[in-house]
Amino acid sequence: MRSRPLKVALLGCGVVGSEVARIMTTHADDLTARIGAPVELAGVAVRRPDRVREGISAELITTDATALVKRGDIDVVVEVIGGIEPARGLITTAFEHGASVVSANKALLAQEGAALHAAAEEHGRDLYYEAAVAGAIPLIRPLRESLAGDKVDRVLGIVNGTTNFILDKMDSTGAGYQEALDEATALGYAEADPTADVEGFDAAAKAAILAGIAFHTRVRLDDVYREGMTEVTAADFASARRMGCTIKLLAICERAADGASVTARVHPAMIPLTHPLASVREAYNAVFVEAEAAGRLMFYGPGAGGAPTASAVLGDLVAVCRNTLAGATGPGESAYTRLPVSPMGEVVTRYHISLDVADKPGVLAQVANVFADHGVSIDTVRQQGRDQGGVAASVEGGGGRREGGEASLVVVTHRASDAALTGTVEALRRLDTVRGVASIMRVEGE
Ligand code: HSE
Repeated sequence: MRSRPLKVALLGCGVVGSEVARIMTTHADDLTARIGAPVELAGVAVRRPDRVREGISAELITTDATALVKRGDIDVVVEVIGGIEPARGLITTAFEHGASVVSANKALLAQEGAALHAAAEEHGRDLYYEAAVAGAIPLIRPLRESLAGDKVDRVLGIVNGTTNFILDKMDSTGAGYQEALDEATALGYAEADPTADVEGFDAAAKAAILAGIAFHTRVRLDDVYREGMTEVTAADFASARRMGCTIKLLAICERAADGASVTARVHPAMIPLTHPLASVREAYNAVFVEAEAAGRLMFYGPGAGGAPTASAVLGDLVAVCRNTLAGATGPGESAYTRLPVSPMGEVVTRYHISLDVADKPGVLAQVANVFADHGVSIDTVRQQGRDQGGVAASVEGGGGRREGGEASLVVVTHRASDAALTGTVEALRRLDTVRGVASIMRVEGE
């Protein structure tokens, strides 16, 4: 056991940073035993130095993060401030001054991961970021290390707890989106501005990171197709239930069937109630990985929160400290496959389309022809009549309704490309008899 402590600089002392500092203090003896040397908090960079921070000595607090990472005696910089700048500059400076980095910054990794990995490699340092995706759930290192000998074909995950909480509430209580969002806000799951979560930006950043690691290629945030979940309605959940499904906001990363490209996307999707992801409730995250030799694996747990995220940060800190003592580094970026990221149009899946149509002879045939013209094969069709107020009047065969009203037509397709489906929907919208396209939802996990 060496006596000189490994020195850690903490950038950010909010919800996650304060938990990192607390665990470093309360578990100091265990960390020392596991690492083989004491690990010491050498400085904490914050924006508001006057705030009381229990358990952290006032002398450690600084507002000058740049000076802290430039000190030269820092072994590991832990970055939990988030965002692109100043985090990017501070991490780069940390490498230049001999420190390794543990980061929880998904936006930065998704956007600048390649450059940061290159900087780490140039300076012979580590860059670890388990906490950037799915909080406490071990996922980055299982993909980077445990599955390094396998071939991952698909990653399908619920990687945003806020949206899972909202969708779960809508499913279990019949609430609309706004009501469920209000509850998520009141309980502290959703932020005052929930855009990053509900519009899928947070999940898209995580999808980019997961896809790059899983397929040993580079996937940036801009490569990820993204749709939020604000348009999901109680009617969509009712339709999903009729199909034996629920609705989740999924991050889906896939290797193409010919192995020559990959795709990464985030959008709401129906998944069968029998799929393991369907039972992920409240704000939990879960990621389903399909690998050639391993088969199907599921990683489940809390995807956010101070202590769970700090757990992932501390795990990385221990690993990086061990590497430092061994004079080694862990795995760096693995992007050797250089697989291109295909556009969304090339994604192949099934679709659930809900149309408002005129209820008169020939409409069903017209609609079916549009699907056929675009090479999209229909699996099932269900028609539901409406009375004049637009409320469902009949489910079975339209009995008792007057012809000439409006009907709701639900079409579920076989697998088709997103481009073919988009062309189909555009053509459907041009039909006089189609009054509106109420919803389009992909069906996954079958
Ligand atoms: N806001 C995220 C979530 C946690 O709701 O899962 C941080 O990525």
